[in-house]
Amino acid sequence: MNIVNGFSKLTKEQKIEWLVSQYFQGDLSVVSLLKSYWNSDVQLQKLHDEFIENTITNFYLPMGVAPNFNINGKTFAVPMVIEESSVVAAAANAAKFWSKRGGFKATVLATEKIGNVHFMFKGSKEKLVTFIEGLQPVFRIRTAEITRNMEKRGGGILKIDLIDKTNELSGYYQLHATFDTRDSMGANFINSCLEEFANVLREKAMEYEAFTAAEKESLQVVMSILSNYVPNCLVRAEVSCKIEDLKSKEIQNPQEFAEKFVQAVRIAEIETYRAVTHNKGIMNGVDAVVLATGNDFRAIEAGVHAFAAKNGKYTSLSHAEIVNDEFRFWMDLPLALGTVGGLTNLHPMVKFALELLGKPNANELMEIIAVAGLAQNFAAIKSLTTTGIQQGHMKMHLMNILNQLQATDDERKEVAAHFQEQTVSHRAVVDFVENLRRK
Ligand code: MEV
Repeated sequence: MNIVNGFSKLTKEQKIEWLVSQYFQGDLSVVSLLKSYWNSDVQLQKLHDEFIENTITNFYLPMGVAPNFNINGKTFAVPMVIEESSVVAAAANAAKFWSKRGGFKATVLATEKIGNVHFMFKGSKEKLVTFIEGLQPVFRIRTAEITRNMEKRGGGILKIDLIDKTNELSGYYQLHATFDTRDSMGANFINSCLEEFANVLREKAMEYEAFTAAEKESLQVVMSILSNYVPNCLVRAEVSCKIEDLKSKEIQNPQEFAEKFVQAVRIAEIETYRAVTHNKGIMNGVDAVVLATGNDFRAIEAGVHAFAAKNGKYTSLSHAEIVNDEFRFWMDLPLALGTVGGLTNLHPMVKFALELLGKPNANELMEIIAVAGLAQNFAAIKSLTTTGIQQGHMKMHLMNILNQLQATDDERKEVAAHFQEQTVSHRAVVDFVENLRRK
């Protein structure tokens, strides 16, 4: 049994030693491998070590850049962190395509964040409503310390509502609080406010004379936490152009292309199996920029997919239509992001990414990220409805196959020449390289 006590107290070297002895039969090459990914700059390595507990090494992902993103008339080179071969190429391709057709437009529609104190109360609802009304100024006073800086920046607590959920779960109520967290994602701010609301709720219930002893006793806070479902923190990204302007090297018949494109989006709107993959393609672009800019991709993913199912059925995030002779493609996306706080000021690559984007505020970053998602979706649907996805995907994946085969520079040249005309498949590349090696 590989149970260990006090693992977190061991030094990094000791942790590796223990892991290698327990799981790799003491193989010293594993130690070397892990250490080879340490940064030689000790301070930089320490910074990364301290992001999480039990760090043993670093885990690289490539950071790429998709240039030529015209968003609201400004041109961006968008940083993307992702492992999937074709994503950056597809984004760059879509960015260039739309830069010649008026660019992307993006608009922040709302920026409200949400948090809840979930509590149980078995008693008179009328009394509870009056009790909470009376607490409104107390909630504000008791969180004044926490909200002072946020208020200086123009944000703070917006509203605290009592929500009756007893129809769905006996005795269950919420304080549903909304916040403006300006340029920070605001998770710590929101959770600190909520925990203080919960303290107020507990303490003041005990002193509230209108409650019976049983009612006081019944008021139990279950938990206080922000919600990653942010349907009112919303940004719209869109493109449009005359159908005839869609004509390009790859799109010879723009009318046919536009109609097929709209059909593909309609399929994602009505068919969940397709919608999930369609939205996954959008998140290829979104997550890559979310990661590069040090934001929480799990929060974004959870919120986006809940939003995609907001009407009770999971559906496409994006939409397309043809109106007269115009092609329109757009998407509303809930994105709770930060450009201050969190990793933004700590991780050197995140700092770089934000600088590359011209130090955007949270709203501007929402716009850029939504556009990255829409661009990715455009590129995917364009490929799917024309050449098929594998052509571009396998071309990009070729490098991975060659690396697996540890191909030499000469072999790579021969492979590149051969597969310029041929369809790339894993088998075909392996066969071709093996053939070369036999010669
Ligand atoms: C692959 O990562 C993403 C796609 O499957 C998206 C889509 O099907 O729309 C190509």
